[in-house]
Amino acid sequence: MTRAVIAGSGAHIPPIRITNGMLATIMETSDEWIRERSGVEVRQWVERGTSTLALSIPAARQAIESAGLTPSDIDMVVYATMTPDYYMPGNGCLLQAALGLRSVPCFDIRQQCSGFVYGLQLADAHVRSGLAKHVLLVGAEVHSAFMPFGEASWARLAGAVDTPIPQHEWDFNTQNRHLEVLFGDGAAAVVVQAFDGEGRGVLDHLIGADGTDFNRLYIPGAGTRNRPYIDQALLDRNEQWPQMDGRYVFKMATTKMAEAAQQILARNGVRPDDLSLVLMHQANRRINEYVQKLLGLPDSKVIHNIQKYGNTTAATIPLLWDEASRAGRIAPGDLVLTVAFGAGMSWGANLMRA
Ligand code: ACO
Repeated sequence: MTRAVIAGSGAHIPPIRITNGMLATIMETSDEWIRERSGVEVRQWVERGTSTLALSIPAARQAIESAGLTPSDIDMVVYATMTPDYYMPGNGCLLQAALGLRSVPCFDIRQQCSGFVYGLQLADAHVRSGLAKHVLLVGAEVHSAFMPFGEASWARLAGAVDTPIPQHEWDFNTQNRHLEVLFGDGAAAVVVQAFDGEGRGVLDHLIGADGTDFNRLYIPGAGTRNRPYIDQALLDRNEQWPQMDGRYVFKMATTKMAEAAQQILARNGVRPDDLSLVLMHQANRRINEYVQKLLGLPDSKVIHNIQKYGNTTAATIPLLWDEASRAGRIAPGDLVLTVAFGAGMSWGANLMRA
């Protein structure tokens, strides 16, 4: 029976290091608050002008190489991002051209922080049905472009000035601080490959969605509800920036991630003790500690990257995978669980033997 395995991975983290202390120079916040309430200590942002596609190209190349393949072996692309280079087309086709792939199908998926778990289901289904043999699955984000900062704030962060920013910028940044402190930029990719042997492969997926309360985490502007879809009035209302009801999202994330993890384990007859590693989406360390405690998992089986990268949305889980596999923490046959929750609202889990 053909199953899908993750045969290789790659990652690319941009160079600009933004500490919590640096953010505290442009808004009312503190290193202590950000660390305690979210777990983020530092995040990496791109240099102005570097796009999500640009970040993902080296990650994808590395994934293909580490799978022992060449670009011409790839027969499908799944690209998960909520921060594409263009409103249209999606980044999948752009990556196909940038890597010089054959004219293979390219899917763009929009499940935000659940992008990787949804993408793995899509890739697995194609591999198992024989429609594809080598799927390039990418999760990449440039969130810094969604930071609603003015020029003085950017200059202060870059160290170009050390004078206080104007009061109106300070107030606006402070109004949005619950979002601004959480996010980082990053890209990662895996190659999902057909495997006909025993003891390895993706075993199951549990993915779901409920759009009832989509507007607890969304970008209200720049869509077809408006004619024209973007105008000055919309920008004046600041509707181009993400909006989030943090407490609501926190509660939903803990509930849905815990449910997804418990259900997928139960229906596969797997006990938490049987797992080698759990890779959880990195939105808030407290969310993951809650799920870890509920499942009774020791620290050794749960890894984090939120402290150094912040929330990189679709990239969090493949970044964790890449780091863990390079560190020798994922051996063939190991039972690995992934779990995520994102805007939509959407959530999911994958269970696999690595
Ligand atoms: N610095 C200092 N104080 C802050 C900050 C900050 N950065 N942000 C909020 N506060 C303040 C609030 O203003 C509030 O002050 P008040 O009591 O005077 O009104 C106080 O801290 C508590 O606010 P809460 O919103 O209750 O803070 P909470 O502990 O819930 O933490 C946070 C906020 C970090 C946003 C949390 O709710 C969270 O992580 N939510 C989930 C985020 C998430 O999962 N997003 C989904 C993924 S994103 C995606 O799919 C794209």
